[in-house]
Amino acid sequence: MNTYVLGHSDPEVQRLENQARFIGDLTDDILRRAGLAPGMRVLDLGCGTGDVSFLAASLVGAGGSVLGIDQAPGAIEKARGRATLAHLDQVRFEVGSVADYQIVEPVDAVVGRLILLHLPDPAATLQRLAAQTKPGTLFVFHEMDMSTARSMPEAPLCAQGMRWIYQTFRRAGVETDMGSKLYTTFRRAGLPDPQMLLSARFEAGPDSFAYQYLTEVLRTLLPLAERSGIASAAEVGIDTFADRLRNEVLALDGVLQPPAFIGAWARTRT
Ligand SMILES: C[S@@+](CC[C@H](N)C(=O)[O-])C[C@H]1O[C@@H](n2cnc3c(N)ncnc32)[C@H](O)[C@@H]1O
Repeated sequence: MNTYVLGHSDPEVQRLENQARFIGDLTDDILRRAGLAPGMRVLDLGCGTGDVSFLAASLVGAGGSVLGIDQAPGAIEKARGRATLAHLDQVRFEVGSVADYQIVEPVDAVVGRLILLHLPDPAATLQRLAAQTKPGTLFVFHEMDMSTARSMPEAPLCAQGMRWIYQTFRRAGVETDMGSKLYTTFRRAGLPDPQMLLSARFEAGPDSFAYQYLTEVLRTLLPLAERSGIASAAEVGIDTFADRLRNEVLALDGVLQPPAFIGAWARTRT
């Protein structure tokens, strides 16, 4: 198993589900545009607790199937529990590493969200997996560009928080702007040029989830930020961070754009 920087503590699992609610419609849009349709068999790479698998399941319907794989047994256990609760019989989850995964069952689509940024060589992984699929298989990925986060007018705490997040991920070897690298990654994998779309939440006002969203990422990364000498707990003040961020943006009558997502999709050559 390769080291996964965010871990799977209970709060982190909860953060993933909160994030999934926040950006779920962006991913759903990409999956639809890419052509996920009733009856398809889908493989979801790095499925975590299953949110993308569940989006895919609603598009392929009861006549299709979804297999989610993730290297973290705790995440898979949680994903299985959620599938059972939702009576989604067409969704299965297995523990497995994307790095050496062998596709044994035929698939029509390979999808993934926020997985390629964690892989040491995403193009090599996609190339290896594409070689195991039939011609015309759809590849769909949804990844972030963290450097696109901004507030207008600039709220200093937002800029500082994003710098801490960005630097800590980079120190851990995570590709913080994987979204912009999707085009070259598809090409290096030998896939056709992908179609792409960038989308982002654009948030304002006291009730936006965006303040908590950025704070939750920072909370998960804080121990690593401290160990790497990027920020101290006292500097970050994580327990009051969301409130301070909200107050700052409201005082500026500002808007906040969390990191944008880029979707990319292509079918293997027939
Ligand atoms: C940021 S989470 C995204 C989860 C899910 N795709 C979503 O968008 O809600 C990344 C997931 O990738 C998994 N992961 C990272 N590297 C992996 C690998 N080499 N093989 C399988 N899973 C991996 C982690 O365990 C984690 O659950």
